[in-house]
Amino acid sequence: MPVDVASPAGKTVCVTGAGGYIASWIVKILLERGYTVKGTVRNPDDPKNTHLRELEGGKERLILCKADLQDYEALKAAIDGCDGVFHTASPVTDDPEQMVEPAVNGAKFVINAAAEAKVKRVVITSSIGAVYMDPNRDPEAVVDESCWSDLDFCKNTKNWYCYGKMVAEQAAWETAKEKGVDLVVLNPVLVLGPPLQPTINASLYHVLKYLTGSAKTYANLTQAYVDVRDVALAHVLVYEAPSASGRYLLAESARHRGEVVEILAKLFPEYPLPTKCKDEKNPRAKPYKFTNQKIKDLGLEFTSTKQSLYDTHRKNPWKMALRSGLEKLINSLKYPP
Ligand SMILES: NC(=O)c1ccc[n+]([C@@H]2O[C@H](COP(=O)([O-])OP(=O)(O)OC[C@H]3O[C@@H](n4cnc5c(N)ncnc54)[C@H](OP(=O)(O)O)[C@@H]3O)[C@@H](O)[C@H]2O)c1
Repeated sequence: MPVDVASPAGKTVCVTGAGGYIASWIVKILLERGYTVKGTVRNPDDPKNTHLRELEGGKERLILCKADLQDYEALKAAIDGCDGVFHTASPVTDDPEQMVEPAVNGAKFVINAAAEAKVKRVVITSSIGAVYMDPNRDPEAVVDESCWSDLDFCKNTKNWYCYGKMVAEQAAWETAKEKGVDLVVLNPVLVLGPPLQPTINASLYHVLKYLTGSAKTYANLTQAYVDVRDVALAHVLVYEAPSASGRYLLAESARHRGEVVEILAKLFPEYPLPTKCKDEKNPRAKPYKFTNQKIKDLGLEFTSTKQSLYDTHRKNPWKMALRSGLEKLINSLKYPP
């Protein structure tokens, strides 16, 4: 069903996991466009969610609802009365118990609640982890929205984050089909760029570990990157575009870790960036090929990864922490790879 975006003012949408890195930017854009936002958080009184109320329009048009992904009634209450849902909340961990069941139940519960509330469209934040984890893919093949990860490979390599994201996305598509819900899915690669929230999430640690000196070398690995502001805008674009359907790969560029630390060293010469690759024997790994044409066709213009890397550090609330002796605390935090 086409989404009526003639006037977002007066329209109410739900964003799950509203206080998270990506979701905070989605909430910001939606409020700026005039929507009323019901944002789910696990604890509305937690100071880590304070930034949401400070967003422009937050005091007037943001309602925080307490909801865990395993709590159907709480999700239903948050989604009730909404025109659309942005389902972004997910565990981000490699612990199978914390990851798989909450991710799958969350996806099913959100779609079921959306069906009951007769929402016009649900947008789900899946991941590149549900797309490219396939050891049998031809290295020259172009990764696009038709690709799916190999579940057995994720399981055998104990990559429970990718496994969980993949089964959650599959469950979302199945439930949406069964319940007749209009679903659009986004598959972002590793997300960088300025955080709005005061805490450090897993993907920001990817940069932080180099700036703090906690990574003494860089891995012989490649990774694709995308800016958090582009990811958030893509959510709103696919929600509002009547023609949007299926999956959308969100990636700006794929680079070797060596390139990333070189860019960071030029941008931030005052920090102890690694200069050596951990693997000095094998040839440098090559980035995979991908296409981002589908989302570009909806009007998204990507921020360069260099700009994202710069803004990740320059425009963030934890920059001060780096300079004020909290490196030890930051370095002691454990994140999934
Ligand atoms: N960042 C990336 O590089 C990246 C790339 C691809 C896809 N994604 C996907 O994008 C989404 C947002 O990720 P992010 O990077 O913004 O991470 P984030 O900042 O850690 O946000 C995750 C959010 O999910 C919520 N959450 C986790 N478990 C929950 C549960 N059991 N019940 C209710 N809420 C729960 C968290 O709430 P609390 O604050 O209460 O913990 C948090 O608000 C996720 O679906 C992630 O898989 C992220």
